[in-house]
Amino acid sequence: MKTIIIQGSSRSNGNTSKIVGILRERMKCELIDLNSYLISQYNYEHKNRNDDFLKLMRKIVEYDLIIFATPVYWYSMSGLMKTFFDRVTDCLKIEKETGRKLRGKYMAAISCGSDGIETEGFFVPFKNSAEYLGMTYVGNLHTWIESDSPTENVLKLIAAFKRKLEEGMGHLLD
Ligand SMILES: Cc1cc2nc3c(=O)[nH]c(=O)nc-3n(C[C@H](O)[C@H](O)[C@H](O)COP(=O)(O)O)c2cc1C
Repeated sequence: MKTIIIQGSSRSNGNTSKIVGILRERMKCELIDLNSYLISQYNYEHKNRNDDFLKLMRKIVEYDLIIFATPVYWYSMSGLMKTFFDRVTDCLKIEKETGRKLRGKYMAAISCGSDGIETEGFFVPFKNSAEYLGMTYVGNLHTWIESDSPTENVLKLIAAFKRKLEEGMGHLLD
């Protein structure tokens, strides 16, 4: 199973990256750090078609499972990640062949906040976007880092999440 994590934090080596790092120690997956690419706001005239978005998307659609990892910023996904989703619209308008490749793929999502309280409805945009794009949503996980590193509890949640993904996608495991 080819897996890629799309990290959407405004700092490449912050808390979300720590969670992503822990998952990557347990699970073979590539990483795209949106913070190191130029992806501008959605443009109705597609004047930004030459920024990094479409190039990245052509790579992403080659994976079976796409895991979005975002910090919680104002009860919601980060602006970086929201812009990424807005730009997926490009794949429905000007590069449909890339958009079509998302059909039948799998999506999961991870949030990283400052405490264990999961914002109501946080994962609804991920779930609904997966459905709209013809993808199968295989689950989500809320994590948090209160001081420097995740608690034992969060580590257990990550391990359980990994098992859940593998169970749900057993037919695709290498
Ligand atoms: C702009 C901004 C908004 C935030 N809003 C929330 C929030 O609504 N709820 C929450 O639990 N934490 C909030 N936080 C804290 C972050 O979610 C938390 O520190 C997270 O672990 C940061 O991950 P990062 O280092 O990858 O950015 C916010 C932090 C920032 C910078």
